[in-house]
Amino acid sequence: MKKKKILLVTGSTGLIGSEIVYELNKEYDVVYGIDNNERSKYFGSQGSTSKIKSFLIKNIKNYKHLDLDISNKKKVFDLIDSIKPNNVVHCAAQPSHDTAARIPIRDFEVNAFSTLNLMEALRKKSKNSSVIYFSTNKVYGDNPNKIKLKEKKKRYDYLQKKYRNGINESFSIDNCLHSLFGASKLSGDIIVQEYGRYFDMKTTCLRGGCLTGPNQSGVEQHGFLNYLVKCNLNRKSYTINGYKGKQVRDNIHSKDITNFVKLFFEYPRIAEIYNIGGGRSNSISILEAIELIEKKTGKKMIYNYRNVPRIGDHICYISDLRKIKKHYPKWEIKYSLSAIIDDLINGLM
Ligand SMILES: NC(=O)c1ccc[n+]([C@@H]2O[C@H](COP(=O)([O-])OP(=O)(O)OC[C@H]3O[C@@H](n4cnc5c(N)ncnc54)[C@H](O)[C@@H]3O)[C@@H](O)[C@H]2O)c1
Repeated sequence: MKKKKILLVTGSTGLIGSEIVYELNKEYDVVYGIDNNERSKYFGSQGSTSKIKSFLIKNIKNYKHLDLDISNKKKVFDLIDSIKPNNVVHCAAQPSHDTAARIPIRDFEVNAFSTLNLMEALRKKSKNSSVIYFSTNKVYGDNPNKIKLKEKKKRYDYLQKKYRNGINESFSIDNCLHSLFGASKLSGDIIVQEYGRYFDMKTTCLRGGCLTGPNQSGVEQHGFLNYLVKCNLNRKSYTINGYKGKQVRDNIHSKDITNFVKLFFEYPRIAEIYNIGGGRSNSISILEAIELIEKKTGKKMIYNYRNVPRIGDHICYISDLRKIKKHYPKWEIKYSLSAIIDDLINGLM
């Protein structure tokens, strides 16, 4: 009998996990999703992903939802043993700096220990699986803030030409302030690389810039553009924290992420790391984003300014996409910044 093709997605009702289930399910016999809606514990009811869970269960026939805690060592091990997935996308995480500082032990359990546990279960029971780990640009800590910057009217930018394309994968992850969230995600990143390099498993770490999309249960602490659009539409005040609102993020639509995930599973590699974000063309400062959203919705943004940056927050971060594009020439960013914001507005209205 032909073996079933199986995909496992952790954090399957979050922004990226749900998009992956939605876009990839047709390529698999069964898609298992692990998510215990812990996001609602981190961020309260606004962060709840329960609607997305109901949507997936109702609309995706081959989707099997597991309300499992990813840090439950035995249950994760037994699951891997029983399903032996062809491909795994590990998205489950505690995703915020502020929350990590409030619950450091739980943050580490979810982001680092669970990743080790998952990789070990895969090594023992399903070593041939291809694995994508969603890491973050916070693995570089505040090192990007040490780059010389120029201040423009509405944004910061890199002063030196060598950073014109942004931050690449050889940038230092060491000797800097990470926040506890950055430290736990970096631990997960190193573990996944190690299972690739040491045990010869097909793994990649995707060091994301700002990932966004209408499926995001955006909250103040996590989901910059989504939350900004939400505040504008709901006439809620947005707080800019420091750097005069000129801090720059590069934004990528969850569908562009999904397209990469498909390609990686087609052509997996061992122990890779890639920076993935919107790149220079999809980079925007908070002030610029406010202006663009106001133009599109016709509603004035209500905001206030707090002259204290978040600890370790990047002043200017742009992902250098040259490595990922070189290894996967078919991959490209299809959603411009303007298209991303249109999609957020339509999805949130
Ligand atoms: N969104 C971004 O801007 C961004 C940027 C860089 C990196 N990342 C990383 O990408 C990944 C996906 O991000 P996202 O935006 O989809 O996050 P998300 O918060 O929307 O989704 C994560 C999901 O994991 C689930 N989860 C948390 N703890 C769990 C546990 N103990 N057991 C089971 N499920 C649990 C949550 O309920 C949530 O649905 C994360 O690892 C995140 O750190 C995200």
